[in-house]
Parts: sequence; structure tokens; C-alpha cells
Amino acid sequence: MPDPSGTSPTKLPRHAVITGASSGIGKAIAIEMARHGAHRILVHYCSNQAGAEQTAAEVESFGAQAVLCKADLSISDDRDFLVHDAFSKLETIDAWVNNAGVDVLTGDTASLEFEEKLERLVAVDLLGTISLSRLVVDYWLRQTDCQSAPAIIFIGWDQATEGMEGEAGEMFGPVKAAVMAYAKNLAQSVAPRIRVNAVAPGWIRTAWGSEVDGYWDRRAKHQSLMRRWGTPEDVARAVVFLSSAESSFVTGQVLEVNGGWNRRYERDEDSSS
Ligand SMILES: NC(=O)c1ccc[n+]([C@@H]2O[C@H](COP(=O)([O-])OP(=O)(O)OC[C@H]3O[C@@H](n4cnc5c(N)ncnc54)[C@H](OP(=O)(O)O)[C@@H]3O)[C@@H](O)[C@H]2O)c1
Repeated sequence: MPDPSGTSPTKLPRHAVITGASSGIGKAIAIEMARHGAHRILVHYCSNQAGAEQTAAEVESFGAQAVLCKADLSISDDRDFLVHDAFSKLETIDAWVNNAGVDVLTGDTASLEFEEKLERLVAVDLLGTISLSRLVVDYWLRQTDCQSAPAIIFIGWDQATEGMEGEAGEMFGPVKAAVMAYAKNLAQSVAPRIRVNAVAPGWIRTAWGSEVDGYWDRRAKHQSLMRRWGTPEDVARAVVFLSSAESSFVTGQVLEVNGGWNRRYERDEDSSS
């Protein structure tokens, strides 16, 4: 039976760009892409060159070629450079993953004032990501030899539109909600040439999750129906699916990767409150 998607027989992305691939979720995405047979992967980073080199080494252990590129997404010239570098070194790009995001929860930035953290999140995760995506889309739309619809994937956050108490919710909520809204709007603009989706991770055990106290550990496990933290690999597998032709009829969607949000109210919690 002919493939109604009209896509090439290659179901998985051959060439992919992963922003923020020097650690955490981005690193896992780059490795998962390579594990699934990607040929060339651009490993983007901002300051952690050693982390990016480690990702590149793991990517290459699966036989893929890794290309490193350093760029600060809050700087316009850097965004131009990244996009130009990506298209000149990878030539064709099947999947572009906007994963990079400022870490305002661990390290030096954790002690900044609320407004300063918010400004950084807006500059990188929101404005930087949107401006970058517009450049990528322009490149793709100018290419006439596209065999199949390339995919762009954004990383949001499952609680952004639902609400979470505290400064983290008040900072990440509006920023990640806007990122997911942008993904849906962009999908409307560029279909059917380009597919646009977002993944909304839940409690994923990356840098912050590895150093939390018992309260957050219990909370993360309790709020997932699967009763565990998510892993960067859980998110990576969803991104690979949305990058591949397996999802060729999926666009304008936000896929929550959080083990299912737990809406149950357990009997033993009755007595503990
Ligand atoms: N972990 C979670 O539970 C969770 C949940 C929901 C959503 N997310 C989102 O998932 C994404 C990855 O999170 P993660 O936990 O894996 O974070 P992470 O380990 O801190 O990785 C963040 C990546 O973004 C890059 N980055 C930071 N500032 C940048 C800038 N100004 N310009 C360009 N790149 C920059 C970092 O590069 P360098 O280190 O090289 O500077 C790093 O590669 C983020 O967008 C985050 O908001 C995470």
C-alpha cells in the first residue's frame, strides 16, 4: 500500500539539530537520535563545552557524526550564526529541537532576584527560541528540494498552563506556556511544509531533581501516575517520535511526558492532613 504521508522511506531524521545539548534533556535527545540511526547531529551549547564534547563523543559512538556549535540564544548574532552554521554543515535538516533553556534553579543563578531570573528566561527560552525558530523556518521554506516535511519541536512544561505555587511556577509558567502557544501558532503558519509540535515534560530528574530534598522527591513521584521521576531519556524518546515520519500526521500538538498527572486523592493522605 502506498504511504499516504508522501514521506521518504527513511522514517527517522537523518540530520538533526539539538539546542542545549551539553547536558540533561538535550544531551539525551542527541544520543537518542544517534541511537536511532541519525547520520549527522549538531550539538549546540552555550558555555559548557566539556559537556557538549561528551555528548558528541556519545553520539559518535553510535556511528553518527557530531558537529559542535556554540551560541548564546539571547544574542541575535549568535542565533544567526547557529542557523547558518547548521544549514551549511548539515545541508539538509530533518529535525530541529528547541530544547535550550536557562537554568535558574541550580548554581550561581539560583541566588538571583526573581525579576532577573524571569528576564533571563524570557530572553533565552522565549524570545531567543522564537527568533531562532523564525530563522530556521525561513531557511526551510526557501528550500525547494524538501522531500518530506521537516519537524521542529519545542520543549514546554506540563504545569505551565495548570499552575504551580511558588516562584518557580510564577517564572517558568508564563514563559513555557508562551513557548507552547507559539508552537501551536507556528504550526498553523507553516503547514503543510513543516510540522511543529511541543513536548511538555513533567518532573524530570536532571540537575535540579538530583539534589532535591525528601519533600520534592515524594512530590515528584506522587504527582505522576507512574509513581516515579521522569528521565531525560523518557523525554528524548517522545522527541524522536515527533521528529520522525512515524508522526507525519501529527502537528500543532503538545505531548505531555510526565507519567500521567495524578488526580487521585489517596486514602492515606486523608489521615496525614
Ligand atoms: N528538567 C525538568 O524537569 C524540566 C521540566 C520541564 C521543562 N524543562 C525544560 O527542558 C529543557 C532542558 O532542561 P534541562 O533540565 O535538561 O536543562 P540543563 O541541563 O540546564 O540544559 C540546558 C541547556 O540549555 C543551554 N543554555 C542555557 N542558557 C543558554 C543560552 N543563553 N543560550 C543557549 N543555550 C543555553 C545550556 O547550555 P550550556 O550549559 O552549555 O551553557 C544547556 O545545554 C529546558 O528548556 C527546560 O526548561 C525541564
